[in-house]
Amino acid sequence: MPGTAPTVMEYRLSIEEIEFLRRLAASLAGTGRDIDDADFLTRIAGHAPALPHGLRGFLRGFRDGDRPACLVRGLPIDEARMGPSPTVCNRLRDKAFDEIRLEVVLVLLGSCLGDIFGWRLQHEGSVVHDLAPRPEHEALGFGTGSRQHINWHTEDSFHPYRADYLGLFCVRNTSGVTTTVGALDAGRLSAHERRLLFAPVFTFRPDPSYLTADASPLPDADLGGILFGDPGDPFLRFDQDYIEWPDVEGIGAAVEALRRAVEASLVDLPLRAGDFLLLDNRRAVHGRPAFVPTYRGADRWVKRINITRDLRRSRPRRRSDGDRVIHI
Ligand SMILES: [Fe+2]
Repeated sequence: MPGTAPTVMEYRLSIEEIEFLRRLAASLAGTGRDIDDADFLTRIAGHAPALPHGLRGFLRGFRDGDRPACLVRGLPIDEARMGPSPTVCNRLRDKAFDEIRLEVVLVLLGSCLGDIFGWRLQHEGSVVHDLAPRPEHEALGFGTGSRQHINWHTEDSFHPYRADYLGLFCVRNTSGVTTTVGALDAGRLSAHERRLLFAPVFTFRPDPSYLTADASPLPDADLGGILFGDPGDPFLRFDQDYIEWPDVEGIGAAVEALRRAVEASLVDLPLRAGDFLLLDNRRAVHGRPAFVPTYRGADRWVKRINITRDLRRSRPRRRSDGDRVIHI
C-alpha cells in the first residue's frame, strides 16, 4: 500500500467476491434477527467457511502468521444508504437494512479469525461498536470522542479477556482522519530491557470508558508484564495513559525504550469507505489524531468489532456458554 507500513498486508476483493458477500449477507440480514443475538452470531459464523477461497485464505494467513495488521479493501457499502453518522449507541437507534447487512459482513469476516464478543460496559453490550463523534464525548479520549488525540495503545490492556483481534471498518471518512497503526520491533530493545519489560510488575488500569455509572463492581486493574509470550518474538500489552510500574532501577528507561521502538514504526492510514482494518491486538498498537466534529451526519464513522480466539476463556465472566457479552 503506497505510503503506509509494509507490515499491513492488503487484500482487494474482486467484483465476484463483492457480489457473493452482498448476496450471502443480504440473505442472513433478511431474517430480521438482531446482530447482538448470540444464536444469530453463531449462525453467521457457520457460513464463514463458505466465504470465497482467496479471502478465507488471506484471513487465515493473517490469523496464523506474525503480521500485526491486515487490510481488506472494497467491502460492499453504499455510503448514501447508511444514513447519517450516529451520535448515539447503535442499540438506541433504528438501523437501515444496508447497515445490518454490512454488520453481517463484518461478523462473517471476523469469524474467520475467531469469535465475536462484546463488553457490558462498552456500547450497551453491543458486539458492533459505532465509533463516530458524540457531543458529550468531544473532549474525551474515547473512540466516540473527537477533539482529544488518542495515544497509541493495545486495546483493553487491563483485561485478561481482551480481544485477540480488533476489526475497524471505515463506513465514512470524507474528512480524511487517519488511523495510527504500529507494532513493536523487539530488535530495538536490549536483552536487559526485555527482561525488565517481561517482569509481571506492571499495573494495567481500566480506561475511563469502563468507569461508567452502572459499572458495578468497577473493573479491576491487572498485574502483568508489558511483554509476554516468546522472549525472542514477544507479544505486547501497553497503554501509556493507563499503566503504572514500581520504582525499580532501569524500569522507566526500559519503558521509554519500548515507547521509542514502537514509535519508530507508526504510520497513519487514511482509511476510506469500504476498508476493513484488522489488527492483531498482541502485536499491533493503534490510535487516532484529534479532529474537528461537525455533527451534521458526515463525520468519520468506523465500526469496531472485538474477536477472541477462545471464547471459553472468558466463561467465568459471561452468563452462559453461548453469551457473547463479558460482564466485568
Ligand atoms: Fe483502541
